[in-house]
Amino acid sequence: MAQEDVFKKIVSHCKEYGFVFPSSDIYDGLGAVYDYGQNGVELKNNIKQYWWQSMVLLHDNIVGLDSAVFMHPTVWKASGHVDAFNDPLIDNRDSKKRYRADVLIEDQIGKYEEKIEKEIAKARKRFGEAFDEAQFRSTNPRVLENEAKKTALHERFAKAMGAMDLAELKQIILDEEIACPISGTRNWTDVRQFNLMFKTEVGSTADGASTIYLRPETAQGIFVNYLNVQKTGRMKLPFGIAQIGKAFRNEIVARQFIFRMREFEQMEMQYFVKPGTELQWFEQWKQTRMAWHQALGFGAENYRFHDHEKLAHYANAASDVEFRMPFGFKEVEGIHSRTNFDLSQHAKYSGRKIEYFDPDTNESYTPYVIETSIGVDRMFLSVLCHAYQEEKLEGGDTRVVLKLPAALAPTKLAIMPLVKKDGLPEKAREIMDELKFHFNCKYDEKDSIGKRYRRQDAVGTPFCITIDHDTLTDGCVTLRDRDTMQQERIPVSELRTRLEDKVSITSLLKKLC
Ligand code: GAP
Repeated sequence: MAQEDVFKKIVSHCKEYGFVFPSSDIYDGLGAVYDYGQNGVELKNNIKQYWWQSMVLLHDNIVGLDSAVFMHPTVWKASGHVDAFNDPLIDNRDSKKRYRADVLIEDQIGKYEEKIEKEIAKARKRFGEAFDEAQFRSTNPRVLENEAKKTALHERFAKAMGAMDLAELKQIILDEEIACPISGTRNWTDVRQFNLMFKTEVGSTADGASTIYLRPETAQGIFVNYLNVQKTGRMKLPFGIAQIGKAFRNEIVARQFIFRMREFEQMEMQYFVKPGTELQWFEQWKQTRMAWHQALGFGAENYRFHDHEKLAHYANAASDVEFRMPFGFKEVEGIHSRTNFDLSQHAKYSGRKIEYFDPDTNESYTPYVIETSIGVDRMFLSVLCHAYQEEKLEGGDTRVVLKLPAALAPTKLAIMPLVKKDGLPEKAREIMDELKFHFNCKYDEKDSIGKRYRRQDAVGTPFCITIDHDTLTDGCVTLRDRDTMQQERIPVSELRTRLEDKVSITSLLKKLC
């Protein structure tokens, strides 16, 4: 099946099974805004818990914070967002659709990559085991041609973005003959800058309302609280502040479902370090964060780093963790070495001294910062994309199964009486009443056992138990594993110890230590 079709199926699966709904669905939705349903909110909470615990529980020098969405407007002047948090946009005159010029060009780069991958896949099929990918890449004329086009375009694009040369961005779109996906024409307007921050007003107009912004990143809440946390927590460098919270961006391109949203959630951690040590910490955090991703067991081949060649003026290193989505490798997380830019800017604009007194050297200085910044929603999407599988079963049946890591699954255990009589529902409820304190259980007595298994597979429940007539006498239930579909009889008294370890976040955290 084409990857595009797989993605469409994932999107409709999300709606059908209560993971993600369009916002204000009964009013036909609101562009790039989504709600999480009964299963989605559990999966999302588990992702957040995995991140939070990996930061705050596993590091005794990282503490949490929950800062407000609204902040003093000068914060955004100091951070540079008022003047420079812009996207270059372009309109197609025929379809009247608006696009991000940089995204159109990135997609074009992606097309060259796709062509290369297709050649490689074809050759791998043809040559089988004997296929040498490295040699093929360095000798095949079509791969070399597309690689050269990709590199040339990438370099020209990076230069234009670095200088924010809007005329050059338009020229690239024209030279690459990029057409509007809706009208199919190349009738483009000039490229213009568009600030992504949402504005609103605080206070009544009579009192003199002032314009404030919905935060476009959670990080600034951490920077402006650096002194509060350092002093009250008596933190010694290096130390980190972690935060999970909503962020808002008026994204021009609303597409790819929850990949690019206007209201989304970030999990950010700012790690304050001594100047001069930042690049060492940057490397360390890159490895730590990659290990966090890979502990989920999705396969190392599905991740890669994308090191930034062109850096923002305040950064001295930056890298993205990219994951293989059905629409290509895409950024899920950014790791940035932000120097002392943000703290220095806030010191300048607030007039406060924002420094650290180092008791080891008796000097005061402005700490440097390593930031790890991951989108909860993108992480959610990557987990779902990897988990969604359609399997052919013996006997010609098919099943849709979400092979979610057990620790992230919304429901850990489905509890099913074989029939709705003979005291089986009561026994099932009794087991549930015991286990519900330890992990998320769901009771299900409707339809045949086969249908109930399919329903649980579709929402990624790793284990089901069936209570039958024998249970009443031998105290055992049938435990069914989602992935292998194998069933075994086990005593009710062993359920908790058998499952708890497998389904808890701790099982993931232990892989990190
Ligand atoms: N404080 C740094 C910062 O915000 P960013 O690269 O703009 O950096 C970090 O964003 C992460 O936030 C991204 O890697 C992505 O996972 C997520 N993100 C950014 N914009 C998003 C959007 N419009 N919708 C969903 N997630 C988004």
